[in-house]
Amino acid sequence: MIQDAFVAFSGPVVKHVSNSSRTSIAHEQSETTPLFSKQALVHGHRCISAWPGYCPTPLLNLPGLAKALHVQDILYKDEANRFGLGSFKALGGAFAVSQLAHAPGTKPAALTVTTATDGNHGRSVAWGAREHGHRAVIYIHAEVSAGREQALRDHGAEVVRVDGNYDDSVRICYQAARENGWTVVSDTTYAGSGSDVARTVMLGYSVMLTELVEQFADNIPTHVFVQGGVGGLAATVCECLRLACEDRAPRVIVVEPELAPCLFVSASNNTPTKVEISQETLMAGLSCGEVSSVAWPVLQRRADDFVTIADSIVAPTMTMLRDSPFGDAAVVAGESAVAGLAAFIAARQIDSLSKALNLTADSRVLVLGTEGATDPAVYQRMTGFPA
Ligand SMILES: Cc1ncc(COP(=O)(O)O)c(C=O)c1O
Repeated sequence: MIQDAFVAFSGPVVKHVSNSSRTSIAHEQSETTPLFSKQALVHGHRCISAWPGYCPTPLLNLPGLAKALHVQDILYKDEANRFGLGSFKALGGAFAVSQLAHAPGTKPAALTVTTATDGNHGRSVAWGAREHGHRAVIYIHAEVSAGREQALRDHGAEVVRVDGNYDDSVRICYQAARENGWTVVSDTTYAGSGSDVARTVMLGYSVMLTELVEQFADNIPTHVFVQGGVGGLAATVCECLRLACEDRAPRVIVVEPELAPCLFVSASNNTPTKVEISQETLMAGLSCGEVSSVAWPVLQRRADDFVTIADSIVAPTMTMLRDSPFGDAAVVAGESAVAGLAAFIAARQIDSLSKALNLTADSRVLVLGTEGATDPAVYQRMTGFPA
């Protein structure tokens, strides 16, 4: 039974590179500008925790799975019910919109906000825009599912579907914003484009880390497996955990689809490197070919490892979480939510990788369940379970 549950994880499903540019805490240059000041973190938490419906998301313990994989603990931060939007992204885009609304001299009613999205970020921006009385125009690419498009419209957004992939939708969105005088609320930024909004989006994500630090209390994990798209979430994880846990901060392993490995390739080349996406990954939220230029320096300095995973282990991981063959609570996790857990399970099946990542029977592993069934039809198709 236990062997059967992991059968999909054997074979060449994971690649690993360790980060040769990582700076040890002892060698960190004092002049390195932190991603967030402590005051900014307090401000982000104070604002978001005052929103109606705010509630910290649960940190679940999966002892049955931990036993099967011979580690001490597996902790799963479950973002499925974040503000009723289904993902941690609810914290970022909506927070950035709320901060625009409060910018001195801004006439809230005059704003049109826009972004490109594969679903979750756009939903957050659309929700924030509606809350603050703005218009939202959201760009999606050819492969975004019909269910995710409808969810954007349900939050009041005008949706524009464009040819090409996520990176194409970002470029088209920026062009439309320039032509129409709209405000881009992007979760990513490229060299030469302003980084303030993307940083504010990441400050929104930091609320999840503030909650986690409280939830760990003294039991800080040894490892965190965090999935990466443009790297904004992973950089926030690195920065906030280092700030809160100092030299006890967990080892950070950044996980991407092998079909969209921009962070992995950038780490291998030791410089931000664009990758062409020739085939869309099932992990829709992680399908990005270009790193965020505000996230990259943080990851280069602080992330420990980069891995990629094959799409073939995504549905089995979602199904196992829901089916719960080891007696843990059943968890509903979307395609992009399980990348970190899938990489960890694969690493536990491969001795050399377990050794390289220093995974042992004493490890306490944190994974971030960054979304629930954000498209219920896709969820049912992939797992056989209703969302
Ligand atoms: C569910 C989910 N998890 C993780 C990520 C990755 O975040 P980032 O693009 O900041 O790396 C995304 C991005 O959209 C997402 O939707």
